Amino acid sequence: MKKAAAEAALEYVETGTVIGIGTGSTANHFIDALASIKHRIEGTVASSVASAERLEKHGIEVLDLNMVDEISVYIDGADEATKHLHLIKGGGGALTREKIVAAASRKFVCIADESKLVDILGEFPLPVEVIPMARSYVAREMVKLGGEPVLREGFTTDNGNIILDIHGLQIMEPTKLEARINNIAGVVTNGIFALRPADVLLLGGNEGVRTLT
Ligand code: A5P
Repeated sequence: MKKAAAEAALEYVETGTVIGIGTGSTANHFIDALASIKHRIEGTVASSVASAERLEKHGIEVLDLNMVDEISVYIDGADEATKHLHLIKGGGGALTREKIVAAASRKFVCIADESKLVDILGEFPLPVEVIPMARSYVAREMVKLGGEPVLREGFTTDNGNIILDIHGLQIMEPTKLEARINNIAGVVTNGIFALRPADVLLLGGNEGVRTLT
């Protein structure tokens, strides 16, 4: 189902442009599919070291975001998605770079299997990337917001930071909570993608791929 959604996303690849590439198993299917049309694109910007390495193995050019004027489309998976195209991301820990590349892209196409579709975000623990010295302070602030923070043991992000996974949240107002958490000193970013939601959600299921916009 992930592969079907990833292959459906090829339709959104615009010839001669730079493509933003996400992180995770669904994004990996997309990278593999993109290899078949790599001659048609200008290059890619990757949201993680792991995705950059996979792209390079396929002989697909990976560019520095600072050297790129425009990214036509960003293709990435999600841990949870609603019909409003709000997402939780960061299960793989790449949320900050994912949010940067999504923000810098004209269009965001999210690819997922249908198990990721939920009514309310929050059953999947919300990843928050935190500067290491702020760990305890941010954890206490998250408790005040009603969450139960759990340190992702033995994990360091590509940016050298830690991840707190916040359990027990029922996210009724994703845009407000996204902004509120991002305003806590020491938070780099959180895994709610609502201020910049997806523009298209391709959901792989038993009966093929559904498109939500
Ligand atoms: C990576 O940090 C995440 O945001 C992924 O997009 C998310 O975890 C989805 O992963 P899968 O495609 O492996 O389900």
